[in-house]
Amino acid sequence: MAIRDIRKVGDPVLRMKAKEVKKITDKTKNLIQDMFDTMYDAPGAGLAAPQVGVSQQIIVIDVDGDSFELINPVIIEQRGTQIGEEGCLSIPGERYLVNRADWVKVKGLNAEGQVVEVIGEAMLARALQHEIDHLNGVLFTDKIYHKKE
Ligand code: NI
Repeated sequence: MAIRDIRKVGDPVLRMKAKEVKKITDKTKNLIQDMFDTMYDAPGAGLAAPQVGVSQQIIVIDVDGDSFELINPVIIEQRGTQIGEEGCLSIPGERYLVNRADWVKVKGLNAEGQVVEVIGEAMLARALQHEIDHLNGVLFTDKIYHKKE
C-alpha cells in the first residue's frame, strides 16, 4: 500500500481525457489499492486516477461505507436533480453548490474485470458524477450552481 500525491488544480493531467483501460494488470490493481489508501488518508469520498497523475479511466468511491472501484465507468441512466455543496481533494478548501442528477446508474468493470452496475442516489449519485467528470477533464468548479435572481 502507498499513499500517492494528489494533483492540484492547475496540473494539466486534471484537464486531460483519461484513457480507457484495455487490460487490467497487477499494475492496475496496485494503482486501485493506492487510490483507496490515498482517498482514506485525505480523507475523501472519492478519487479518480488523474488525481494521482494517472490518466486512466479508474475511480474509487466510499460513501457511507459503501466502497468500490470502477474501471471505465459510464453513466447509462440518470434521473432528477439535486443541488448540493461539493468539494474536491484537488481543489482544497473550496466548496460550492453544484446541480447534479439525483439518481444514476453506472456501468463499469471491477478490479477482477467483471462487468458491474452501480445505482447511486443522493450523495452516492453526486460522488459518481463528480469522479466520472474527472475522467473527462471536468472539475466541479466548472459547474458551480448560481441561483437565479
Ligand atoms: Ni474531485
